[in-house]
Amino acid sequence: MKELSLHLLDIVQNSISAGASRIEIGITDSQQRDLVEISVKDNGCGMSEEFVQRVTDPFTTTRTTRKVGLGIPLFKLAAETAGGEFKITSEVGKGTLVYASFQHSNIDRPPLGDLRGTLITLIQGSPDINIIYTYTTDRGQFVLDTEEVREVMAGVPINEPEVLNWIGEFIQENEAELSAE
Ligand SMILES: Nc1ncnc2c1ncn2[C@@H]1O[C@H](COP(=O)(O)OP(=O)(O)O)[C@@H](O)[C@H]1O
Ligand SMILES: [Mg+2]
Repeated sequence: MKELSLHLLDIVQNSISAGASRIEIGITDSQQRDLVEISVKDNGCGMSEEFVQRVTDPFTTTRTTRKVGLGIPLFKLAAETAGGEFKITSEVGKGTLVYASFQHSNIDRPPLGDLRGTLITLIQGSPDINIIYTYTTDRGQFVLDTEEVREVMAGVPINEPEVLNWIGEFIQENEAELSAE
């Protein structure tokens, strides 16, 4: 069972490959609603409806003019195996929204994994992309917006180790505050 943070990394890497300059990542971790949600919204090149079909179900789609990977199908399978849903909404030239939900209590629901490490990896690798990360639990919500971090840091590159450390601590503190006792 692959941790959800690794699926997230795959999906965000797709957004980066699609030339996105802005990526909104949303995580919901709610025991009360028995729900885990992961969403990734980008302003990259987008996909046609037909192409979305093909990348989502590569085995049931007959026309295989182009080789496609398994990042999306595996994420979809993980969601559907854990009582959740999977959806891609995309528009060519505008961007893409990938959404996956999971039943929190489902025995097949993978753990969230190292979300903080994933975020840090992404920011380190793509410091010029605006990443807006929203984490929501039953106790509240926090937002990390790398554009705001960039403003506060006034000229210090966001992928400097000190800045990345600071971001990591910020995420850790907020996650700790929002996680259930
Ligand atoms: N956010 C996105 N924007 C545009 N195209 C995308 C996006 N995500 C996926 N794709 C397209 O779908 C294909 C399949 O993605 P995926 O299943 O993750 O496999 P892989 O990344 O190995 O190709 C990608 O190669 C890309 O062409
Ligand atoms: Mg991929």
